[in-house]
Amino acid sequence: MYFHRSAIVLSLLALPAGATPADDPLGEKTGGETTVFATGRNAFSFPAANLSEEERTRFVIGNSFFKRNWVQAPASTTARDGLGPHFIARSCGGCHLNDGRGEPPAPGNQPVSLLLRLSIPGIGAQGGVVPEPTYGDQFNNFAVRGVKPEGKVSISYREITGRFADGETYTLLAPAYAFHDLGYGPMAKDVLVSPRVAPQVIGMGLLEAIPEAEILANARDQARRGDAIQGVANQVWDAPAGRMMLGRLGWKANVASVAHQTAGAFNGDIGITSSVFADEACTAAQKDCLAAPRGAKGMAPEIDDKTLGDVIFYQATLAPPARRAPSDPGVLLGQKLFTEAQCAVCHRPSYVTGVPPHPRFSSKALQGQTIHPYTDLLLHDMGEGLADGRPDGKANGHQWRTSPLWGVGLIQDVNGHTRLLHDGRARGVMEAILWHGGEAEASRERVLKMSKPEREALVKFVESL
Ligand code: HEC
Ligand code: HEC
Repeated sequence: MYFHRSAIVLSLLALPAGATPADDPLGEKTGGETTVFATGRNAFSFPAANLSEEERTRFVIGNSFFKRNWVQAPASTTARDGLGPHFIARSCGGCHLNDGRGEPPAPGNQPVSLLLRLSIPGIGAQGGVVPEPTYGDQFNNFAVRGVKPEGKVSISYREITGRFADGETYTLLAPAYAFHDLGYGPMAKDVLVSPRVAPQVIGMGLLEAIPEAEILANARDQARRGDAIQGVANQVWDAPAGRMMLGRLGWKANVASVAHQTAGAFNGDIGITSSVFADEACTAAQKDCLAAPRGAKGMAPEIDDKTLGDVIFYQATLAPPARRAPSDPGVLLGQKLFTEAQCAVCHRPSYVTGVPPHPRFSSKALQGQTIHPYTDLLLHDMGEGLADGRPDGKANGHQWRTSPLWGVGLIQDVNGHTRLLHDGRARGVMEAILWHGGEAEASRERVLKMSKPEREALVKFVESL
């Protein structure tokens, strides 16, 4: 479903950061004038509403290379060959299904939209991780014909039960991961593993256009509070810019720009080389991987700069959908409780966007927009329960980036599931909240003490975003 609203032209740039325009007091237009009014299966798949005709054409081209499967080289279609040698999925859309959220595999199946990052202790190049010596920085459970896959992953769950103050019980699932059928021998004994599910990719270009000063101000404001909430910004290497930048994307804010994320995903997840990442992700121990034929008639890179740029542009300009029923009384009560329980300290509602890090892969239409992503883009210690024990840039093994909450209520429409958190362990909004610990422990305790109608209202509010 997709319907237009008549655009009301406002001078949004004149508004102070964090304010909502007078015509939209409830922040219904999550992405300002880029917002689309859409629900249903394609809710995450529309271009920003205010793109020009020419930009829409670029969006459509980028979309086709996001969705279409890459094939093994050599092939007759050199525009799309070069898959692997190792890979997890054959296309971006294979994990970000309908531009949406991945989930853990059904029992007995191999994970696809949940990938496992690998490293060993220490600090690597440009402050990044030290990859696991034999398997690299990510586990690739699939390979092209003639090359060994890295192996298989199995996931088991332990049930944890608890009780709200009113006596109602709840059950959470704590996952554990094991590797087997390893293709290249054992992993390092001190391997660190971080499971990560594919997030919905709406509003990416808006997130990268939030002024850096606003994100640093979030950290300063939190430091002044004097309670447990102490967010910190990540600093990571941005390959397209060739310098360190503030991290914003990924579950640990481990990537600074949509351009880096896209080129990195082509290389790490699909096995497609580019001018940004020119080498296949094979380690020295993986001789069959190193020897496998390359795509595009043996030439590097396997994706040319124009096509890569179009996919980046597509990612940057996918619109966030509007809120649903923001003035419903239950939703309004939930909004009040969200503020009272300090959720909004980390899940900061609003910003006015500035200039993105790589304007040639973005649109002017994304600038100067009042947006409502509900994140501070900072890292927080979320406690032992959620810890992966694996550092990533400046993020330690207990820290995660505050997830943007826009679109969370539409994952069910788009992907037919309600799995949340970095590894998809939560089976809905309330379970996600109940996993909050560490800096968010006080928030969780407030929720445990809420009455059932209050808890339902809080969830209803989050689902309206
Ligand atoms: C194997 C599954 C998989 C494939 C294929 C994949 N992604 Fe992702 N994507 C992920 C995961 C998992 C994350 C989170 C990564 C992290 O936290 O380190 C992610 C993160 C992202 C993000 C940042 C989202 C956010 O909220 O911060 C963008 C943008 C993105 N991917 C775009 C792409 C593009 C473009 C492609 C194709 C070139 C692609 N992805 C292919 C799994 C995948
Ligand atoms: C200290 C900062 C902090 C506070 C306070 C906080 N959160 Fe979060 N929230 C996070 C972080 C960080 C994550 C990501 C954790 C992960 O994936 O392991 C998250 C994840 C979530 C998710 C899952 C989002 C997704 O896309 O998977 C929901 C829902 C959520 N928070 C709601 C809330 C609510 C409601 C409150 C208040 C009761 C709250 N949060 C308080 C930091 C915070």
